[in-house]
Amino acid sequence: MNPVLDIQRECARLAAERDNLREQWEGEASTGHVLRPGELDLSHKVILYLDDISVSFDGFRALNKLSLTIDAGELRCIIGPNGAGKTTMMDVITGKTRPDSGKAFFGQTIDLTRLTEPEIAHAGIGRKFQKPTIFEQHSAFENLELAMKADKRVRRTLFARLADDERDRVAAVLRRIRLEQVADRPAGLLSHGQKQWLEIGMLLMQEPKLLLLDEPVAGMTDEETERTAELLKSLAGQHSLVVVEHDMAFVEALGGEVTVLCEGAVLAEGELATVQADPRVIEVYLGR
Ligand SMILES: Nc1ncnc2c1ncn2[C@@H]1O[C@H](COP(=O)(O)OP(=O)(O)O)[C@@H](O)[C@H]1O
Ligand SMILES: [Mg+2]
Repeated sequence: MNPVLDIQRECARLAAERDNLREQWEGEASTGHVLRPGELDLSHKVILYLDDISVSFDGFRALNKLSLTIDAGELRCIIGPNGAGKTTMMDVITGKTRPDSGKAFFGQTIDLTRLTEPEIAHAGIGRKFQKPTIFEQHSAFENLELAMKADKRVRRTLFARLADDERDRVAAVLRRIRLEQVADRPAGLLSHGQKQWLEIGMLLMQEPKLLLLDEPVAGMTDEETERTAELLKSLAGQHSLVVVEHDMAFVEALGGEVTVLCEGAVLAEGELATVQADPRVIEVYLGR
């Protein structure tokens, strides 16, 4: 009898059992890549993959074989003239509009064209619309709390007391969006910029992997615009962000790669200075 050997043997047996269970559970061990059903697969560093997407409205091609890839943790700006298809692209990603053809994948395995809007939100894609949809009579704190409760993963009634960790999450988001000082103020009394940040905070409560923002600084003061750029930059890395924006100073402040859409397809892609110097880009902006 050697107790050390016995323990080693027992450890080996438990490890084998654990591996077996994992294989049964994940079912994909043979590919050397293990995932739970519905889990986001970022093994190729790509979080969003659009390929050859077309969308027509009454014969008009709003998206025309659009192909676009966003990496995990990336902060990407989408610019382009009015009618280029920027909002339609976001509608396709979030399931609001079904493409006529093409592929849309979230990570390697989640086919967005097969999911409903709520399923896509639940999979980890959050969208901020231009008009904030906050609850004006409720405080900023309560708005964040409500956003957390709206998350189906939190199985608790609206009126149940917040657990400490939930309170900490709300506090962390309030700090992140710089609204700690006005946390108890009715949201309706916040400035335009503060309301926009609150809505971003409400999205953050759902812990999205990919955040889509359509013209987030429209109507903001210069100072609010600067702060928004800082906020979004602070989110990159942990989250992937796709920002549609017209304000070039803001796009420059964000500093990420820029995609220029035109007539439903990608016209140019790269650093802002590079795409701005591209004659085709200059032409579409000057031509309108
Ligand atoms: N639901 C719709 N029905 C008909 N046409 C639409 C619809 N949505 C968008 N379009 C058209 O598709 C084109 C692209 O629109 P949109 O995606 O909103 O462009 P952007 O956001 O770049 O300004 C525009 O010409 C617009 O009029
Ligand atoms: Mg638009």
